[in-house]
Amino acid sequence: MSDKLKPPTDEPAIRLVTMPRDTNADGTIFGGLILSLIDQAAYVEAMRQSHGRYVTVSFQQVEFHQPVYVGDLLTLYAETIRVGRTSITIRVKVCARRRRQPDTNVKVTEGEVVFVKVGENGNPAPIFGD
Ligand SMILES: CC(C)(COP(=O)(O)OP(=O)(O)OC[C@H]1O[C@@H](n2cnc3c(N)ncnc32)[C@H](O)[C@@H]1OP(=O)(O)O)[C@@H](O)C(=O)NCCC(=O)NCCS
Repeated sequence: MSDKLKPPTDEPAIRLVTMPRDTNADGTIFGGLILSLIDQAAYVEAMRQSHGRYVTVSFQQVEFHQPVYVGDLLTLYAETIRVGRTSITIRVKVCARRRRQPDTNVKVTEGEVVFVKVGENGNPAPIFGD
């Protein structure tokens, strides 16, 4: 990997409390919301590594381990696991602190996102410059 890569951080990319508006018809949190949050958390990490314009090219190995409930405090951690010339792959882990069990921190979902850095013309551009 590039020697320009910043070391991993313990700081979460995102923290938020889930709301009733985020549920599916069965009352648990809609998986599409979690995918959107994973995309955003990965973007936060990509921008931490190298500022610029990114497009999402791929979601990989997303696994929903546990349901997410209304009122859960979600914490998303993002870590860069690969940097190519124009692409960057980021692993995101989503943990939930249950509303009625404040001592819990359950890993509910994890996945990888690949971004491509693009220039003004929308064509791939080097992550760290040539
Ligand atoms: C992402 C995009 C710019 C890539 O353009 P392209 O001409 O296919 O680019 P290239 O073939 O030169 O590949 C560029 C990089 O992307 C990587 N890549 C391309 N397709 C990929 C895929 N499906 N999965 C993972 N990486 C991929 C390549 O490996 C390459 O990485 P590297 O430079 O680090 O080696 C283009 O496909 C695009 O604009 N897609 C739409 C993105 C978008 O709008 N996302 C939001 C959807 S709402």
